[in-house]
Amino acid sequence: MPLITRSPDTGVWLLNTPRTSYALRIDESGAPCHVAWGPRLTPAEADTLVVPAGEPSDSFEGRPAVGEELPVDGGTRYGPPSLQVRYADGSRAFEWEPAGQRVEESARGNSAELVLSFRDRVFPLSVDLHYRVRSDTDVIERWTVLRSEGGHRVDLLRADSAAWTLPPLPDYRLSHVTGQWSAESRLRRERLPHGETVLTSRRGTTSHHANPWTMLDDGTATEDRGRVWSTALAWSGSWRITVQRTPDGRAGLTGGVGHEGTCVPLGPGEEFTTPVSAGLCADGGFGGASRAWHAYVRTHVLRHAEETAPVLYNSWEATGFDVDEAGQLALAERAARLGVELYVVDDGWFGARRSDRAGLGDWTPAPDRFPRGLGPLSDAVRRLGMRFGVWVEPEMVNPDSDLYRAHPDWVLHLPGRARTELRNQLVLNFARRDVADWAYGWLDRLVAEHRVDFLKWDMNRAIGEAGWSGPEGGNDLLWTRYVHHLYGVLDRLRDAHPHLRIETCSGGGGRVDLGILARTDQAWTSDNTDAVDRLGIQRGFGQIYPARVMSAWVTDVPNQLTGLSVPLRFRFHAAAAGLLGIGGDLARWSEAELAEGAALVARYKEVRHLVQHGEQYRIGEPYGEGVSAVQYVAADGAEALVLAFRGSPRHGSPRVPLRLRGLPPGLRYRDTGTGAVHHSTVLTEYGLDPELPSGDWASALLHLERVP
Ligand code: DGJ
Repeated sequence: MPLITRSPDTGVWLLNTPRTSYALRIDESGAPCHVAWGPRLTPAEADTLVVPAGEPSDSFEGRPAVGEELPVDGGTRYGPPSLQVRYADGSRAFEWEPAGQRVEESARGNSAELVLSFRDRVFPLSVDLHYRVRSDTDVIERWTVLRSEGGHRVDLLRADSAAWTLPPLPDYRLSHVTGQWSAESRLRRERLPHGETVLTSRRGTTSHHANPWTMLDDGTATEDRGRVWSTALAWSGSWRITVQRTPDGRAGLTGGVGHEGTCVPLGPGEEFTTPVSAGLCADGGFGGASRAWHAYVRTHVLRHAEETAPVLYNSWEATGFDVDEAGQLALAERAARLGVELYVVDDGWFGARRSDRAGLGDWTPAPDRFPRGLGPLSDAVRRLGMRFGVWVEPEMVNPDSDLYRAHPDWVLHLPGRARTELRNQLVLNFARRDVADWAYGWLDRLVAEHRVDFLKWDMNRAIGEAGWSGPEGGNDLLWTRYVHHLYGVLDRLRDAHPHLRIETCSGGGGRVDLGILARTDQAWTSDNTDAVDRLGIQRGFGQIYPARVMSAWVTDVPNQLTGLSVPLRFRFHAAAAGLLGIGGDLARWSEAELAEGAALVARYKEVRHLVQHGEQYRIGEPYGEGVSAVQYVAADGAEALVLAFRGSPRHGSPRVPLRLRGLPPGLRYRDTGTGAVHHSTVLTEYGLDPELPSGDWASALLHLERVP
């Protein structure tokens, strides 16, 4: 059956994914309206769906606040608009006038796109709604293209990517994350209140405080069971998602770029393409939804997901800003002994950067600490058998820098007003073409001249006093153009240097989203490297984003943030749940610690294909009393990995066995560590009591291989 069909009887468009269907139509008034989103239907079945009424039920009601594909500000609509425009004459309405419908299929027939075109009945503004479905994922991608076709500027006060409508359910629950620096991705599952719930970032970047995804269910879904509707926005600037629960029991959401008070100005003849808002309806509970998102990100968002990510070393927690050639070389030699494959020099290698007070923006190796440049270190790292990476923060400048002294006008600022520094730095105006080109120029040279294999691209403050007095409407334009130019620099770099891999970082996990992941290869999850805190942060991160991008380091104890000391083995096992890295001061590691570390790195290398490419299952609560685990299963079921964790043992508390997931019944698996053979039915239905060392912060790594 084609991925997209239109009923000749009802005019309803039916979009099919492997397991789900999405139906919509253009109603009598010309507005695009939602019909259904749920388990897959045949066209004949879809023809019998009840089409929701779009007209007001009484004189106070207006059109239903939930149920349109892109509710506009205009007519008798009183819900949060997805599209709100202001024309040159100051009027704000949009009236839907259909202007065409088309389906484009990919040459191989594995994806199809529906485009519904409209224009306003009065002003020359066109709106195209795009829907893309694929044959290998239930994720539906939606975006909107707006075009000003007249001779005047049009302000898009709100230009959301899409509005999503849930079926009527007896109750609604919203899952999302909140956080702050070093405490990202705190998972919240809360009953959806009536009214409007706003999730947003006003910081010009994705933020540590919220992340642009949602999951909605009827309040009964569990980790393994139940239907979950979720969305994720592919955008790395300010964003807003408004989730709505109406008095008549409906729920839906609208989301897109920008926060309140900003707008996207469209000059005459200009076009704005919103970022993708991706949606997924999945059975199998929150775990099932997460696995579907992980597969989608690996297959359709990341460029190099099939590669095995290397074990990296990062110098930040070991040396801070105290970086020089001899010290880095000594660390690199020890890192190589541990089995590290990529050595990354963090902050402090350039200009006058001896603290966070100076040097940012002057991207030449510090002559006092790297008198011969970075070349000798890069060569030595390579001779040690590792790849070479460096930290950069291209969007920022310290006022105490040659760059700022030469170009004080390059920063975001409002003339005559304060330029407030955060971490002693200001934000370069990447919306300016010359600034973005300057950044591309030095990054391109840095990568080429020093044979850099890996960039850790950091961004250590939020945008503030955002002003751009250049073009007309610059203060509004900058919010989106900044992000588009950032994406442009990343895309150009990757195209020019196909071997280059990039880690997105913003003081830890402040810029992780589907937009940046389309341009980078992995994400620095959090500056909080406490292994215990990390279990919770990683649990929230993994709701949408796969372990393939979740960078995690083993660092020293007592942890520099929390003061907690947990065994080296626990720290390794926590980091092994993602892309294992090491960030401790290896100069201070004893021979015994180096030997234990080398063995744990070697073990990770034996199983990392499961972490990076397998299917993830979450078992138990990371901060619960008992044992929690994260499990990875190979796509063909031939192998599984279990990483199990326990906090403090409590005498007399019930021992709940770990019931493994995702193993086909009736098979046998051998524990490659002990040689013990287990039956999959016993492992999944009755559970396993993992052998954990006694004492606090115990952990285990179990690798199971199917017995032929
Ligand atoms: C914030 C990052 O998250 C850290 O890992 C480190 O790179 C520092 N910036 C360096 O300034």
